[in-house]
Amino acid sequence: MIDFLNYDFSNKRVLVRVDFNVPQDKTTYQITDDKRIRAALPSLRHILNKGGSLILLSHLGRPKNGPEDRFSLKYIVSQLQILVGKEVFFANDCIGSEAKQKSTVLQAGEILLLENVRFYSEETAGDLSFAKKLASLGDCFVNDAFGAAHRAHASTTQIASFFPKDKMMGLLLSTEIENAEKIMKNTLRPFTAIVGGAKVSDKVLIVENLLNIANHIIIGGGMAYTFFKAQGGEIGDSLCEIERLGTCREIIARADLRGVEIHLPIDSKIANKFAFDAETKNHNSNEIPSGWMGLDIGTETIQSFTNIILNSKTILWNGPMGVFEMDAFSSGTKAIAQAVAEATKNGAYSLIGGGDSAAAVQKFGYSDQVSYVSTGGGALLEYFEGKELPGISAITN
Ligand code: 3PG
Ligand code: MG
Repeated sequence: MIDFLNYDFSNKRVLVRVDFNVPQDKTTYQITDDKRIRAALPSLRHILNKGGSLILLSHLGRPKNGPEDRFSLKYIVSQLQILVGKEVFFANDCIGSEAKQKSTVLQAGEILLLENVRFYSEETAGDLSFAKKLASLGDCFVNDAFGAAHRAHASTTQIASFFPKDKMMGLLLSTEIENAEKIMKNTLRPFTAIVGGAKVSDKVLIVENLLNIANHIIIGGGMAYTFFKAQGGEIGDSLCEIERLGTCREIIARADLRGVEIHLPIDSKIANKFAFDAETKNHNSNEIPSGWMGLDIGTETIQSFTNIILNSKTILWNGPMGVFEMDAFSSGTKAIAQAVAEATKNGAYSLIGGGDSAAAVQKFGYSDQVSYVSTGGGALLEYFEGKELPGISAITN
């Protein structure tokens, strides 16, 4: 595999697939979190310093039928200019004459951002002739879009085939893999995986795969109540996926067989409605009265989860413990973030990823106190589900 740091970029037009799919304000389109752009900067700066020029490819959002103004990457340009500290040219299309012309005249040290690749349905279809058109714009290909590495799309995967000797991983992609491997290979024990979020169905595959490797699996968030229900508990109006009760029982049985300890929130902060001003109380999670729902882990649970985390040497966290966006139900997620930070300070390795949990550590101010916060949502999840990520195999194969 070609080593990014040793590759000769001088006077090359370097096609870099980045993941600039960033959260934006719904009305002004201002970027509300530029972490993904900042994460790409080391690769971008390296290429520019080595005398290359940049042709940046990205998607933004999920446009359905061709170009849509709100998904235009033109809204990213000003923040990108501030972060790289130089002018960024923009092409209103990712293929065609404008893109061709602007990439042809690009000089060493210059940056061109192309319009959203998902304005073409050929992108998500992984169309080879579309990938070829993108490929024709540059001399080599760098994939640095970890967040989109689970997509077998034209600009993440097929494009690599046009650069058999000039395709490589960028620094973000390789850093993400290195960090993920600290969890999956040479794992320091005890290894605790914290899994949360609303739905069991979103997390079945990751939990099943973690049963092969974790010592402890902490389960929080809305998905925990389906587990209580599966064991005969009363969960009131809490979230429940009836069709997943069997799955939950199987997970518990398999964990038993393998000696993996599954920890559920024994108590919850329950509420009489899904609202910031609901009436709330602390209550056993398996005897929640009807008319009430669990929206956060309870005080005893916070204590016991914290103890497990503090005794761990490796920690993976994917998914919040409650509705942390509402202050009334944020204590659990915040306490877990604090415990992970504390464990990290004591020498544990901690990796946070999968959208919401990254947003939570950021919100509570712990991003700098954990070992690594991934830029991946679905991509990180699929990695820990044990799947091969097509964006990565397109480079390594
Ligand atoms: C993400 O944010 O999950 C990535 O950018 C991929 O986007 P997608 O889920 O729309 O494919
Ligand atoms: Mg996604």
